[in-house]
Amino acid sequence: MEFILDKTDANNIRRISTDLQQRYKTVDNPDFYRRATYYAFDLPKDLLISLSIFNSTDHPFMKIKGLPINDELLMQTPASWREGRSEEAYLCEFMHYLIAVHIGQPFCWKTQQNGRTVNDILPVKGFEHEQLAIASKSNLMWHVEDAFHDARGEFLSLMCLRNQDKVPTLISAPNMKKLSSSSIEELMKPQYFVRADDAHDQNTNLNEIGGDDTIMGAFQNARSLRKVAILFGSPQYPYMRLDMDTFGRESFVSDEAEAAYRELCDLVETSAAAIVCEPGDILIVNNFLTVHGRPPFQPRYDGKDRWLQRLLINSDFRKAAAYRESVESNILYA
Ligand SMILES: [Fe+2]
Repeated sequence: MEFILDKTDANNIRRISTDLQQRYKTVDNPDFYRRATYYAFDLPKDLLISLSIFNSTDHPFMKIKGLPINDELLMQTPASWREGRSEEAYLCEFMHYLIAVHIGQPFCWKTQQNGRTVNDILPVKGFEHEQLAIASKSNLMWHVEDAFHDARGEFLSLMCLRNQDKVPTLISAPNMKKLSSSSIEELMKPQYFVRADDAHDQNTNLNEIGGDDTIMGAFQNARSLRKVAILFGSPQYPYMRLDMDTFGRESFVSDEAEAAYRELCDLVETSAAAIVCEPGDILIVNNFLTVHGRPPFQPRYDGKDRWLQRLLINSDFRKAAAYRESVESNILYA
């Protein structure tokens, strides 16, 4: 699905967001969190209708085009998520959040980027070859966001602030009807080992101050090995929690389990689409229906690097109660 904002509507979203940014400073402000749904109803009606259709019909992804971003005011792409950012970057977070909240509850992990609601995806020196969103020269393998965790987002949303080299986001929405019924049966058994990858590593995600026992326990929990089903829901129309990096690292319980896994991986490879986002685009991805990845690219490190802001979204946040920092927080412990 694609929705193109006209100039008047786009400028209205920017105006509403500017007012909110001046009042609340960041989307992490608890007073904004409590009122965000109310503010979001000021968005253009046609956009809200499209978001409603997207959310209720299990589309693999939706692209919204035309949000106004001032590249000059954005200043330099930070060298790391730990660095400060411009007022313009904070304003983008508000535009993004107001749209995302129509799909569900935006949330974040305490174990990612020190618990900021909006995570920065930008290339960071020293991490070029990792399986991380902040990498660049590696081929980011097909994955569902946070496949290891039961409270992972049903959606992830990427807002493009900068992408001069037109680096695509890869999305694959495999047609599960092409899988053999025996493979579907295998993949629906809770028999596949997984643990969090470095996306929840304490060294890349804590600030200089470090963390308390609770957060250190969450890092440890993320690393613990668990056994899950890769497909779930209806056998006729299964959802998936595949991550080719993390599941592929562990051994399989049987030849049948491995063969089914390989069949799904092959199907994913043949269903790929490349989507190039431009500044002002928002790409909302169904994290139950699709896997995503990214081809390698050359980082610039000149202040003009590719820069996306990521939000995770859950439609029923109460199901994540066991992991929430508090009942009044959108922060989850892994
Ligand atoms: Fe990802």
